[in-house]
Amino acid sequence: MRENTTGTELLAWYDQNARVLPWRVPPGSDATPDPYRIWMSEIMLQQTTVAAVKTYFERFTSLWPTVADLASAEDAAVMGEWAGLGYYARARNLLKCARAVVSDHGGAFPDTEEALLTLPGIGPYTAAAIASIAFNRPAPVMDGNIERVMSRLFCVETPLPKSKPVLKVHATRLTPTHRPGDHAQALMDLGATICTPKSPACGICPLMGACTARKAGIAADLPRKMPKKPKPTRFGYVYLARRADGALLLETRPGKGLLGGMLALPTSDWSDAPTPAPPIDADWHDPNLEVRHTFTHFHLRLALRLADLPQDAAPERGTFAPMDKFAPSTLPTVFRKAFDLGRSVNIDGASAKG
Ligand code: ADE
Repeated sequence: MRENTTGTELLAWYDQNARVLPWRVPPGSDATPDPYRIWMSEIMLQQTTVAAVKTYFERFTSLWPTVADLASAEDAAVMGEWAGLGYYARARNLLKCARAVVSDHGGAFPDTEEALLTLPGIGPYTAAAIASIAFNRPAPVMDGNIERVMSRLFCVETPLPKSKPVLKVHATRLTPTHRPGDHAQALMDLGATICTPKSPACGICPLMGACTARKAGIAADLPRKMPKKPKPTRFGYVYLARRADGALLLETRPGKGLLGGMLALPTSDWSDAPTPAPPIDADWHDPNLEVRHTFTHFHLRLALRLADLPQDAAPERGTFAPMDKFAPSTLPTVFRKAFDLGRSVNIDGASAKG
């Protein structure tokens, strides 16, 4: 075992302060982590907070307790359960990966970073996280939290993302061969609870003595970042059409691209100058309302259009979902916002009561 006081102090802190998380085996427990649950949590935690992930994780693992259960689930059921969590390519890859583990690996996740990297949706971060947390391999796990901790601990003033390789060198040196999974989780917890982006709690940090940025008085200023490009705004129309029996006109987005494979309300293109593209010729009402949503690379503003359709309406695109078959929770957030906004107005423009 490598001598590493910083690592030892970190593990001692983790033993006392580990967060209780539904996918985690607490330090000191005799239990072995379940690679399926570790994988599921790491996919969900990409770009998403622990608080948001918890309920989704509980729901997915109770609906599909094993990778074989998930592999044989219906695509629409999985996509529907993912709605609201965002970054929907993750849900498509979740299913692909579960099916690959069953068909190519006999239903057991491979236990090396290299083999994990061959699976759909598993990139360098996730492969390292699973190898270390599920299989206790000394793979340095690099996410935003850990990059921040490394930047401060070793006072790296080069801005991100340029500093990434040097941060990884530091993280690799720090990773112990003893309890590497707990080490990775300790860094994650430290980054989430003490070494936070703003106002880090250096006074109670277990690495206070070793932290060079703290000694230099610049912990809160690190990591430095290259200025971000401002996000552009795109515009479009979103169509909320109800048939006489209350059924709602919906479509499934094409398999690839943004929100691919998800249930959706019909929309026009999203651009600087969108062309209206109603899914059916109807008396579309303009309630003068707009849905706003922000994606990773752009802001979106969709003008709402409403129509009441006769029972025999035959739309050019989409299918009617009967009221009793449709759960608004299966819509991605941008469409859920449009649906809720549409429900708040009567078609004559007055605000709905109740
Ligand atoms: N963020 C990403 N992965 C995590 C994990 N396993 N525990 C806590 N926070 C995380």
